[in-house]
Amino acid sequence: ESRQRTKLLELHELATAWFEEQLRSPEGALAREYLSGRGLKPDEIQKFRIGYAPDSFHALRERLQSVADQETLRLSGLFSFKEQEDGKPGPLYSRFRKRVSFPIANESGRVIAFTARALEAGEKAGPKYLNSPETPLYSKGNVLFNLDKARQAIRETGFAVLVEGQMDCISVYLAGVKNVIATSGTAFTEAQVRLLSRYATRMIVNFDPDTAGANAAEKSIALLTEEGFEVRVVTLEGGLDPDRYIREHGTQAYMTALRAAKRHSDYLIERARQLFPPTTADAKVKALNFLLPHIRRMPNRITRDEFAADAAQK
Ligand code: CTP
Ligand code: MN
Ligand code: MN
Ligand code: MN
Ligand code: MN
Repeated sequence: ESRQRTKLLELHELATAWFEEQLRSPEGALAREYLSGRGLKPDEIQKFRIGYAPDSFHALRERLQSVADQETLRLSGLFSFKEQEDGKPGPLYSRFRKRVSFPIANESGRVIAFTARALEAGEKAGPKYLNSPETPLYSKGNVLFNLDKARQAIRETGFAVLVEGQMDCISVYLAGVKNVIATSGTAFTEAQVRLLSRYATRMIVNFDPDTAGANAAEKSIALLTEEGFEVRVVTLEGGLDPDRYIREHGTQAYMTALRAAKRHSDYLIERARQLFPPTTADAKVKALNFLLPHIRRMPNRITRDEFAADAAQK
């Protein structure tokens, strides 16, 4: 109910501020070093309310336990626990430890979840990113990272740039492209497309130039074109994701890449030719089979016919 919601929002706000505080504390030195190594300045860190979840199992609980009861703390997703033999939850401990924290906000800018990045790679550090679980506040398929900051620019420009990761989104935003949002690595969903359709009719998909990114791009193109979005796709040179591309080549080069975004039909035809070089009849059949579902999905007769003709010819 809404009292619980209010409490959970309050916990997330307090946790965000507490993580920010930890980042500024002596304990946050490594994390500050990590972030500056990734090119983020203090005011940029502040803008996205990036923080540090320290290497402690109990410190966050101690900060929050006077604010909410155990059940509400558990529901917040900020903690983990082991189920005990009687089936009840055991003691709560911090889910995010020794990680850089990125708050995930809803459209109105209220923090509803976190994703948190390990400072170092390796098995001991666990997965690179750890996310809040599904909670009464947060359902990952319904949320787009940065939509709160991006939505006005999306409305004004009529389009959004869609990237995979938090750091991609932050770097693109700081490069001046304010209409950028991130899927957070998960499969783009119909709910997210519907959310976006309130703000824009066009989309530039800019996922990582690797197999995972290409597969995610194909699925996103399918969802978006089906909803009538006009979709363009960026492929960045050198295997760099948007964040690393901007760090290595600068804002201007990134802008040029954005302007060179291909129509989704041209992108897909090129992808089909890569996957199935059309030198034999068999490969041509495979390439067309790859493209046909995309062609069929186009809601507009004229663009569909044009896509089909291009595909057949190329
Ligand atoms: N992701 C995740 N869990 C992982 C790996 C990735 O939730 N174990 C999500 C994160 O939101 C991440 C996105 O998928 O930002 C894209 O993954 P990837 O390209 O592997 O990470 P980067 O965003 O490039 O991460 P970084 O630049 O911090 O290394
Ligand atoms: Mn990736
Ligand atoms: Mn289209
Ligand atoms: Mn990446
Ligand atoms: Mn990256």
